[in-house]
Amino acid sequence: MPTLDLGVLVSGTGTNLQAIIDAVGGGTLDARVRLVLSNKPGVAALQRAAAAGIPTQVLSHKSFPQRESFDRALVAALREAGVTWVVLAGFMRILTPVFLDAFPMRVVNIHPALLPAFAGVDAQAQALAYGVRITGCTVHFVDSGTDTGPIIAQAPVPVLPGDTRDSLAHRILEREHESLVTVLQWIAEDRVSVVRSSTGSRPRVVVKGRSPLLGTSAEAR
Ligand code: GRF
Repeated sequence: MPTLDLGVLVSGTGTNLQAIIDAVGGGTLDARVRLVLSNKPGVAALQRAAAAGIPTQVLSHKSFPQRESFDRALVAALREAGVTWVVLAGFMRILTPVFLDAFPMRVVNIHPALLPAFAGVDAQAQALAYGVRITGCTVHFVDSGTDTGPIIAQAPVPVLPGDTRDSLAHRILEREHESLVTVLQWIAEDRVSVVRSSTGSRPRVVVKGRSPLLGTSAEAR
């Protein structure tokens, strides 16, 4: 079974990156993080990577005239580092086809809601404002839309009476860490494939031998 050569794109705190680092270190994720790339200098995610001895690079989107030229620079850096799979772990930029065509169905994002509900920024506040009783997180492949790519796995999180945006975000984040690492290990085990139908409907993800409904009794089956 080949080890996954991961590139992780970040913009902020990097707790999902830390979950990946810890799972690799603990032997539960068969992967190497080849490069951590940030579009923002000085963020905590870069310190987490450096502390784990992982190469880091900062490419500020502000230094590039268009999204496409920024994406070309990201692709070059990732290829140079030997990356074959990309994880967006709190990366706050939309990727263009220039990037996505370089890593077709090999870019994975973690989103803090049950997509297609509450796509885009501050999904936790959107869920609270709407008044849903259950939200959660989604691990999905990235396409050129905002949080619209084929869904790999989802985990539910209840919204509790008295929840604030931050208390809810904290509980979702715990599920994000588990879910992201679980899905990456499935990918390492070659359990995840994308099926395209001839009728032009959305591509769907098939997971071999594992329940993609995480953290529920379905998962234990
Ligand atoms: C997470 O909630 C993730 O779902 C979203 O951005 C946040 C990143 O958190 N895309 P962290 O930087 O991994 O701590």
